[in-house]
Amino acid sequence: MCGIVGILAREAAAPQLVDGLKRLEYRGYDSAGVATLEDGRIVRRRAEGKLRNLEAKLKSEPLGGLTGIGHTRWATHGAPTESNAHPHATERVAVVHNGIIENFRELRAELEAEGASFTSQTDTEVVAHLASRALSAGATPREAVRETLAKLRGAFALAFIFAGEEDLLIGARRGSPLAIGHGEGEAYLGSDAVALAPFTDAVTYLDDGDWCALTRSSVEIYDDAGAKVKRETVRSSVASVMVDKGAYRHFMAKEIAEQPEVVGHSLVRYVDMTTGRIRLPDGADFDFSTLDRLAISACGTAYYAGLVARYWFEKFARLPVDIDIASEFRYREPPLAPGSLALMISQSGETADTLATLRHCKAQGVKIGAVVNVPTSTIAREADVIFPTVAGVEVGVASTKAFTCQLAVLAALAIKAGRDRKVLSDADEQKLVAALIELPRLMSEALHLEDAIEKLAPTFAKAQDVLYLGRGTSFPIALEGALKLKEISYIHAEGYAAGELKHGPIALVDETVPVVVLAPFDPLFEKTASNMQEVAARGGRIVLITDAEGAKHAGETFATLVVPKAFAFVSPLIYAIPIQLIAYHTAVFMGTDVDQPRNLAKSVTVE
Ligand code: AGP
Repeated sequence: MCGIVGILAREAAAPQLVDGLKRLEYRGYDSAGVATLEDGRIVRRRAEGKLRNLEAKLKSEPLGGLTGIGHTRWATHGAPTESNAHPHATERVAVVHNGIIENFRELRAELEAEGASFTSQTDTEVVAHLASRALSAGATPREAVRETLAKLRGAFALAFIFAGEEDLLIGARRGSPLAIGHGEGEAYLGSDAVALAPFTDAVTYLDDGDWCALTRSSVEIYDDAGAKVKRETVRSSVASVMVDKGAYRHFMAKEIAEQPEVVGHSLVRYVDMTTGRIRLPDGADFDFSTLDRLAISACGTAYYAGLVARYWFEKFARLPVDIDIASEFRYREPPLAPGSLALMISQSGETADTLATLRHCKAQGVKIGAVVNVPTSTIAREADVIFPTVAGVEVGVASTKAFTCQLAVLAALAIKAGRDRKVLSDADEQKLVAALIELPRLMSEALHLEDAIEKLAPTFAKAQDVLYLGRGTSFPIALEGALKLKEISYIHAEGYAAGELKHGPIALVDETVPVVVLAPFDPLFEKTASNMQEVAARGGRIVLITDAEGAKHAGETFATLVVPKAFAFVSPLIYAIPIQLIAYHTAVFMGTDVDQPRNLAKSVTVE
């Protein structure tokens, strides 16, 4: 998880940048750096390790200048060394970055062929060289940034300063958040309100695809079409500075929107972006070749993540998987062989049913793995190996970003298991990892369905029953969609395997029943399309979620939501977004308590 700060100050920028970076320590990092303009020249100070190492360097080698950018880095591309620490710079421009530039390798090759020399292994450095090349060709800083953004593929937030431009700070947001801070004769950029808290509580959140050019007396914001736009300025609740709804009406809405960024943060803990291969986090380097069975157990949404993972482990690693709802697991008394791994999945790491299952397995001498979002939780502490998700604090009782981060981590583990068990070749692994690396961008595009989904809320709100259908890995997503709707709108909903409908549940279908069908255009699409016709023939209102190809082949529906085309492998993380938004907007329309629905708790610590 990286953090970004930028400042157009009236006093020395460097100490204020460090103050802002301190607020970002919760994001975790392994290096940090700042760049300022001294007499118009770009000057940098960077250091490995904790922020105090950067502070010590600034103490011995102070930085002047009133304009600057700062960054805390959690290594994605390249080791956590000083040379890989941000800001990255040329003579003419310095930049800091949070997120993933998917096409950095080809851009770097193009730039090196033109004579550019690189000093790091990072994807970020190509951004500095692209902007620098545009400036050398006569572009203004604003034109240089616009040209650079057009060449980048991925999900990221960026902040730029330019040699000789003491009163200019440019930022861009595509997938990872970035906010503008408004001061008295000063202006700021920050990853979130937390980073801006030392300077201001007047904050403007950029929309996805926006970029902005700030001076000490002006703010220009442009949308992804290049049109000049206005964005709302809010007062960030500095009091709850660590967890802030920001410009969102509910925590759940914020957490749905955060998914491209936090899935990216989770992925970079498991993927070596330089080699495009899986590299498990320190302390979690588990060898799956020793296993002959995997026993997965979890509750609720975490259980549905485990259901998806079963398909992946069995398909890509040929590893047999048992999976049980944690509250049922031990009453089945499954035979647990020493060659098994019991894998618990839990956002909170405190769910009593899951903890009881962990202890049951441990008592039988089985090795315990845990996919958890809270590394200090009880389940984490009692597990033998922890596979952390990096979703950040999830406040909404209905789990969203934790779910997709669980899927991202489980996908990485399944690929690692395939490599360890010599089922996946290097080429297979790199193809699957490439699909994972695209996820932040594709999930960010899926979020653009929000307006269309909000218009469907009245239809769902008046339903007594809603069905969700899916095949393959879309079946657990159908189950998750039904749970999301039930738990925050209180409408009864059921998820079914699409092929199962004709074995009974189709009796429920009539014109009052919305049927959400999850169907990527893959080898299973044809069969699911015929299930859709069975529903349509009985008057069911089909809300189809598919990709552009599927929409062309689908025939008549009540509504069709088109998500980006992706490898079938990663579809569950993309299709999770529309089903979350359907539940969210239906609940908002109905006026229920979205963040704290009746009868529920964020962590169920009783059996
Ligand atoms: C998900 O939206 C629910 N709030 C609930 O099903 C939750 O997933 C379940 O209680 C498990 O919680 P955990 O992931 O913290 O163990």
